[in-house]
Amino acid sequence: MKIPRIFIFLLAATGSFLEASSLISAYIFGFTLPFIGILMEALGTTFSLVIPIFGISVFTTTYRQRKPFDLKNLVLREAKPQDADEIHEVLKQAFKGLEGRGYSTLAINAAIIDAKEIRKRILSGGHVLVAELDNEIIGTVTGFKEHQSMHIYSLAVSPKYQGCGVARQLMTYLERIASKEGCNKLFLHTAWVMMEAIKLYESLGYVREGYLRRHFYGEDFIIFSKLIERGNSRCKA
Ligand SMILES: CC(C)(COP(=O)(O)OP(=O)(O)OC[C@H]1O[C@@H](n2cnc3c(N)ncnc32)[C@H](O)[C@@H]1OP(=O)(O)O)[C@@H](O)C(=O)NCCC(=O)NCCS
Repeated sequence: MKIPRIFIFLLAATGSFLEASSLISAYIFGFTLPFIGILMEALGTTFSLVIPIFGISVFTTTYRQRKPFDLKNLVLREAKPQDADEIHEVLKQAFKGLEGRGYSTLAINAAIIDAKEIRKRILSGGHVLVAELDNEIIGTVTGFKEHQSMHIYSLAVSPKYQGCGVARQLMTYLERIASKEGCNKLFLHTAWVMMEAIKLYESLGYVREGYLRRHFYGEDFIIFSKLIERGNSRCKA
């Protein structure tokens, strides 16, 4: 969850305002009614200190800081068979990062498809996309056109480059391809533990369409989908 900076600013401003007014009232009432003066001062201090501290702690624990990578040289393209080993490495690093979240090792290993399978996907006409930065493949996603829908698989970004917008760009690029190929819809399966991916899909306009119990090596899966509005895609060419 992102807390807007303006919210934190308003909390701090409210606290400061209350502190100032309590000081004034403490000054006014302090001479005649000391009890009211002390009470007002205590209230003001509470508001001026506790609320901003609470707000800032919420902000720092929930706001994901962007990492300082310059993505202006990022290239998005269809993969070539010779990219398969590098793509496998990206999948390995990204999915291994999900270990310890309650997602089974069997399911993690199954998601890390090998280079041979990746090559097969490329050669069989799948849209295996890569994000490349300074000649290094740092992200990937695959789309297969099925009955005028685009089935999305294997979205992954190298841990070092996560949080910079690479996956968003890959998904947007794939959506553009799907739209050009006349697809009506994009869909994918994901697991509950993949919170970052779920946030990404929802922020891109995907909705939960179904629920698959014990679907993938015993893991429950959610089906996400997005309809492509003809001539009104969010993606810009
Ligand atoms: C899921 C994954 C591909 C996201 O890649 P990414 O390049 O880091 O994602 P982006 O930087 O493009 O983030 C896009 C959106 O995703 C969400 N998101 C991504 N990482 C997040 C995080 N750590 N915390 C909260 N939201 C996050 C946010 O909505 C973000 O939008 P914002 O930056 O405007 O807030 C990456 O975390 C990954 O490889 N995970 C392991 C493999 C995996 O889960 N694949 C999905 C299989 S279904």
